Amino acid sequence: RTLATMLAGMATLTPGTAARAEDGYRLWMRYDAPAGAQIDVRGGSPTLAVAAAELRHGLTGDAGPVVIAAATDAAVAALRLPTAELGPEGYLVRRVTLAGRPVVLVTGNTDVGVLYGAFALLRHLGTGGTAADVALRSAPKIKLRVLNHWDNLDGVVERGYAGQSLWDWWTLPDFKDPRYADYARANASLGINGTVLNNVNAKAESLTAPYVAKAAALADVFRPYGIRVYLSARFSAPIELGGLKTADPRDPDVAAWWKAKADEIYRTIPDFGGFLVKANSEGQPGPRDYGATHAEGANMLAAAVAPHGGIVMWRAFVYADTDPDDRAKQAYTEFKPLDGTFADNVLVQVKNGAIDFQPREPFHPLFGAMPKTPLMMEFQITKEYLGFATHLAYLGPLFEETLAADTRVRGKGSTVAKVVEGALEGHTLTGIAGVANIGRDRDWSGSSFNQANWYAFGRLAWDPALSAEAIAREWAQQTFGTDPRVVEPAVGMMMASREAVVDYTGPLGLAHLMGTGHHYGPAPWVSDLKRPEWNPVYYHRADRQGIGFDRTKTGSNGVAQYAPAVATLFADPKTTPERDLLWFHHLSWDWKTQSGRSLWEELVHRYDRGVATVADMRRQWDGLKPLVDAERWQKTATYLAVQEREARWWRDASLAYWMSVNGRALPAGVAAPA
Ligand code: GCU
Repeated sequence: RTLATMLAGMATLTPGTAARAEDGYRLWMRYDAPAGAQIDVRGGSPTLAVAAAELRHGLTGDAGPVVIAAATDAAVAALRLPTAELGPEGYLVRRVTLAGRPVVLVTGNTDVGVLYGAFALLRHLGTGGTAADVALRSAPKIKLRVLNHWDNLDGVVERGYAGQSLWDWWTLPDFKDPRYADYARANASLGINGTVLNNVNAKAESLTAPYVAKAAALADVFRPYGIRVYLSARFSAPIELGGLKTADPRDPDVAAWWKAKADEIYRTIPDFGGFLVKANSEGQPGPRDYGATHAEGANMLAAAVAPHGGIVMWRAFVYADTDPDDRAKQAYTEFKPLDGTFADNVLVQVKNGAIDFQPREPFHPLFGAMPKTPLMMEFQITKEYLGFATHLAYLGPLFEETLAADTRVRGKGSTVAKVVEGALEGHTLTGIAGVANIGRDRDWSGSSFNQANWYAFGRLAWDPALSAEAIAREWAQQTFGTDPRVVEPAVGMMMASREAVVDYTGPLGLAHLMGTGHHYGPAPWVSDLKRPEWNPVYYHRADRQGIGFDRTKTGSNGVAQYAPAVATLFADPKTTPERDLLWFHHLSWDWKTQSGRSLWEELVHRYDRGVATVADMRRQWDGLKPLVDAERWQKTATYLAVQEREARWWRDASLAYWMSVNGRALPAGVAAPA
């Protein structure tokens, strides 16, 4: 480039670019109080130190004196506060009189509980509360609240849309980028207490000494924030790293190799959390390569980490050849018979739905079906099938819908949340995972609103009973300020957004209609891929007469995998929730829907509604221009324009295809696309 073009480029930089104060880097933790708060820290742990630093950052002098101390502190213990039910991670924040002085006390049974209390106090203040009225008490309902990073060792994030991996493997372990601590702060502010650093499609190399040392450096940064490090393990590592001939879990040499590997990891990372494993799925090696079961594979690894208090998260995301007629049935077919055979320190990690993180899926039939095994929920925070980083889709309602779904396995109220919390079957080892949407972008998640999905996952992991709307509101208040003229439209946009994506990509229970490989745009016409279940036509089964996947007795009978009370509902199109209609049924284009419209008319109506909702979101955001900083406003406005264009693309391409199949015209009154 010539000097002239370089200078011209520089001239277009906006003032203040260097500071980039509004680029979203600070996430929902935008507090920046002038010094003045009086923080009394009772205890000297690194965790209490970071809690104090956070409060100094966020509290003004008006808060009055704040004392942070574990409940074991003599002065706090003397108050006889109800701390027993807080467990090891809960917190209590309230006004008390300590040594004759009124103070705000932040306490918990452990220092990490205190840290969570500090963040709860900041959230209380950031959402319009005051120190005068503070009275907070909460304990997490799920034990392991974990992010899964699908980060490869070369820095590429699988299904990541926010830049390169945050982990700079090249400069670790020597250089600990300050950003790692900011990452830990953000997670701790939500109560996330674990992170799996590398992709489930794992390379054996991640278990070599140099990489374990790098993971250890990250663990050192995360430790004060209550976050443990886990690694994805490649099942064939004993062959690739250990030179063994087999990775058969029943082979004593294989078990011994893993035991030695676990011992080595724990020497370097004493509080290492354990392994996450994707086995015999999409080309990954696993126990089935040797005729052994998933349980035998998981238990062998579990035995290696058990002496150190570690756990194994074994994924149920498999689709092999067990049920060629219906991919949605396969995980259940393979895992259900293994219930009761997993070791005590194994959790089976199940995706929210039986296919793959679609904009909408009914809950996975495994929830409730393996009472003797702790089932860990796996949500996807990164929007692989919901428009990547560009489309605005707040996932709170998706998470909430799944957690609130009733499995009916022990009568009414046997919700998926209760299964995951362990409450239904009395498990104490419980967990929830979210596939992270975090990368090296300045705003971490690729857009301001994507940050809300990280936030919502963390908040629901702590308490699955929180409402998606309440979470949206508290996020918006902390992210854009508490002015209701901003907060209410932002919440309205968020709450409508995911349903809009469902409407313009696949309404009424349609799923998996995206382009292969990238999963971004529409491709319901694709039918020539190698494996039948990769093809969109496999899922929608549209022909001249009708559309939808028959999972009743006349089809794959996938409904039978649900408890009888649910199976009965899903077996009849009249009692199937309309949102899941074509997931379970193949129906005539003339089928009469609840609105009175024919199925064809209703589909068209919903595609249109999706586009209209996005147009409305744009209008609402335009109205916020004077109230939101220019940088975040502009990026969101630009992305909404992209989303509207692409919602039309989805609708028009999909309808054109359906019309080519059913030979019908657009219903009267619907204008053909311009
Ligand atoms: C999806 C995704 C893959 C991923 C897989 C998994 O299929 O497209 O990239 O590896 O899920 O969850 O293992």
